[in-house]
Amino acid sequence: MERTFAIIKPDAVERNVTGKVLAMIEAGGFKIVGMKKILLSRAQAEGFYYVHKERPFFGDLCTFMSRGPVIALVLEKENAIADWRGLMGATNPANAEAGTIRKELGVSIEENTVHGSDSPESASYEIPYFFNQLELV
Ligand code: TYD
Repeated sequence: MERTFAIIKPDAVERNVTGKVLAMIEAGGFKIVGMKKILLSRAQAEGFYYVHKERPFFGDLCTFMSRGPVIALVLEKENAIADWRGLMGATNPANAEAGTIRKELGVSIEENTVHGSDSPESASYEIPYFFNQLELV
C-alpha cells in the first residue's frame, strides 16, 4: 500500500464541487486516510510550494491557494502516487483526458481543482506538512 497527498483547491471548494471530487476519489479505489478543511495563510502556501519558488507563476499560485479554504487529504491505494496523478489529469485542464478530475472540473492551468504529490519524496514532505500520525487512520 502507498500513500499520497492531495488537495482539493480553493476553486473547487468555492464552486461546491468538493463532494464530486471526493466521489471520484472513492470510485477510483482510494481510501481516504486523512482529511481536513483548512485556510492556508500566504506563508503556509509558500512553504508548501517552496519547490516552485523560482518559477514565474509562484506568486500568483500562492495567492490563489490562500484565497479560500482547501481540503487536505491523504489517500491510500496500491500505486497511489501515480494513480492519483492519473485521475487528476494534466496540469492544464485543456490538455487533460476525458474522465479526469481536471478535465471534468478544472477552470484553468492555475485553477485546476486538485493537487497531488509527484513522487515519494514529495509525499514524504507534503503529508507531514499537514497531518500528524494520529490524524491518519
Ligand atoms: P506543477 O507541479 O507543474 O503541476 P501539477 O500540479 O500538475 O503537479 O505546478 C504546480 C501548480 O502550479 C499547478 O497545479 C498550477 C500552477 N501552475 C500555474 O499556475 N502555471 C503554470 O504555467 C504551471 C506549469 C503551473
